[in-house]
Amino acid sequence: MRLCATLAGMSQDLSIVELDADDPAAVDAAFTIGNEAILADLPDFPPSCRAEHEVRVRLPMPGTDRHTFLAYRDGLAVGLVQADLPIFDNLNKSFLDVLVLKEHRRRGVGRALFRHAVGFGLARGRTSVMGFSVITDAGGAPTGSSAPFAAALGLDNKLLDVRRRLDLSTADDAELARMLATSRPKAAGYSTVQWGNTPPEELLEDMALLDSSFLDEAPKGDLDLEAEKVDADRLRRVYETRARYGARPYETGVIHDATGRLVALSALRMSKTVDWHAWQQITLVHPAHRGHRLGLISKLVNLQTMRAQEPAVRIVDTFNAEVNSHMIAINEAMGFRALDRWANWQASVA
Ligand SMILES: CC(C)(COP(=O)(O)OP(=O)(O)OC[C@H]1O[C@@H](n2cnc3c(N)ncnc32)[C@H](O)[C@@H]1OP(=O)(O)O)[C@@H](O)C(=O)NCCC(=O)NCCS
Repeated sequence: MRLCATLAGMSQDLSIVELDADDPAAVDAAFTIGNEAILADLPDFPPSCRAEHEVRVRLPMPGTDRHTFLAYRDGLAVGLVQADLPIFDNLNKSFLDVLVLKEHRRRGVGRALFRHAVGFGLARGRTSVMGFSVITDAGGAPTGSSAPFAAALGLDNKLLDVRRRLDLSTADDAELARMLATSRPKAAGYSTVQWGNTPPEELLEDMALLDSSFLDEAPKGDLDLEAEKVDADRLRRVYETRARYGARPYETGVIHDATGRLVALSALRMSKTVDWHAWQQITLVHPAHRGHRLGLISKLVNLQTMRAQEPAVRIVDTFNAEVNSHMIAINEAMGFRALDRWANWQASVA
């Protein structure tokens, strides 16, 4: 274990140590803290995937320099901060996730972890820190502890996201089928293609183009954030890495028949060890091909495919910016319902 800091003052018995992937106790502690701290505030979340964690501590997602720091009090691991430093774009940013075990909160651990990660990032030119956390429940009542924590640390909410949930055990299957049937005639001249962990090689360039435009297309409120720089090679490595995590992705692309170009895609992802829950991730339609229901069609077809192969899946969760009215309209029509509101935090620490 590499000792990074011992904090004087309020918490003399608190030390912060970078996670060593060769230390099984530290890897175990990081898993337990991550899983338990999240479930304490979000009991309806799927549990974290241990198999993915074991691989991820050695193999972060391509494009991210990830450092995890554990906080020990009297030798006991009680909290962690994950610092993700993008390496191809957003070179002045660090994305921080601070997590403290519930029974050890309000004793300065979170603040100490945050300060440590800010200092670590600043030494690497990261003058802007970002974070993402739940702030209110579906009724708008405050939930979790991140809002007062973020306020105490000087972070501002720059963009509000809403998590929506589709419960497949009560979904209106007839309505979903009707939506797909009435949409298809509007998409004459387009066809769908599907893949899991290995997208067709010939589509990678178009996928990278769509991915790179994602942030510029989706609302980003007051966030200071560049679109990701994605190319075919980075994308190939992203999918290879996810496969190593054991993730089960379901993805549907839409091809414009006349040109053979990929112009839309929608992605669902399940973890290796949780069979009842899926995340609806990106859905994106090229601006020149909007108005043909390609977003709705790719989402519905993708969902159909996943359900056919994953009979135990019951819950699909998704995040959208509160102002993303087009995507929200599609989601609400499919039966997704708002659950809670999340803040995209950001602060300059220069
Ligand atoms: C948010 C979290 C990391 C805070 O950890 P912590 O160790 O309790 O934080 P600290 O004790 O260092 O709190 C620092 C300050 O934040 C504020 N704060 C933190 N939690 C608070 C709460 N529940 N209510 C009111 N203020 C709170 C206080 O001003 C506190 O200082 P004080 O205790 O001297 O008044 C922890 O609650 C957690 O893991 N939550 C779940 C994950 C999460 O939301 N992470 C934040 C992502 S940005």
